[in-house]
Amino acid sequence: MPDFNQMIIAPSLLAADWANLGQECRRALAAGGDWLHLDVMDGHFVENISYGPTFVHHVRRSVPEAFLDVHLMIEHPDQYLQDFIDAGANNISIHLEPEYDTSATLKRIHDAGISAGLAINPATPLNSAEPFLDQIDLLLIMTVVPGFGGQKFMEPETMPKVVEACQMRSNRNLSFHIEVDGGIDGNTSGIAARNGANVFVAGTSVFQAEDMAAALAAMRQD
Ligand code: DX5
Ligand code: ZN
Repeated sequence: MPDFNQMIIAPSLLAADWANLGQECRRALAAGGDWLHLDVMDGHFVENISYGPTFVHHVRRSVPEAFLDVHLMIEHPDQYLQDFIDAGANNISIHLEPEYDTSATLKRIHDAGISAGLAINPATPLNSAEPFLDQIDLLLIMTVVPGFGGQKFMEPETMPKVVEACQMRSNRNLSFHIEVDGGIDGNTSGIAARNGANVFVAGTSVFQAEDMAAALAAMRQD
């Protein structure tokens, strides 16, 4: 079972300089990032378009050993799943909100031998995710409305869900990471950690920092 007291920081490449993608990936890992987080947006499920499987493939080629945490913010994750598996994802998180067979899609992720994550928007109650908790390795509790980097951490709307998810995990003897994503920096990481999160996605606060290593170290301090 993973140690949920150990902080995992996942710099989000959405905020990186894509003209120097390989260098940015290596820089984030050398500065102390544990995973790399990749935000896939389709312009339908969220009001922004980012990148697709080819981008993930290029990241995989540039950092063959890195753990790639792929966050699908797309309307039809089931249709595109295989492309992201083939591109080299280590975890794929799918959102609960679109209409598709969530359970079957989580199973397909596991059948491919990788980690399966389920993501919920700030407005989605944890209860809606409850039926799937025994099928996942990671629960992604969005701390902003997904679509754009650089937004403000939504503490009152999301932290009670982190607390509740921790309780459900221990009550039901389950094992999944609790990841927060959106507005995470040296201050909000501590808030989320105290509430029970153990994986922290951060884009702007990492890639826009003057000293990336210092920004990452600040997130580890409580
Ligand atoms: C938001 C994305 C995030 C984003 C976080 O839609 O899911 O992963 O990159 O960016 P920051 O850290 O800038 O809020
Ligand atoms: Zn994300």
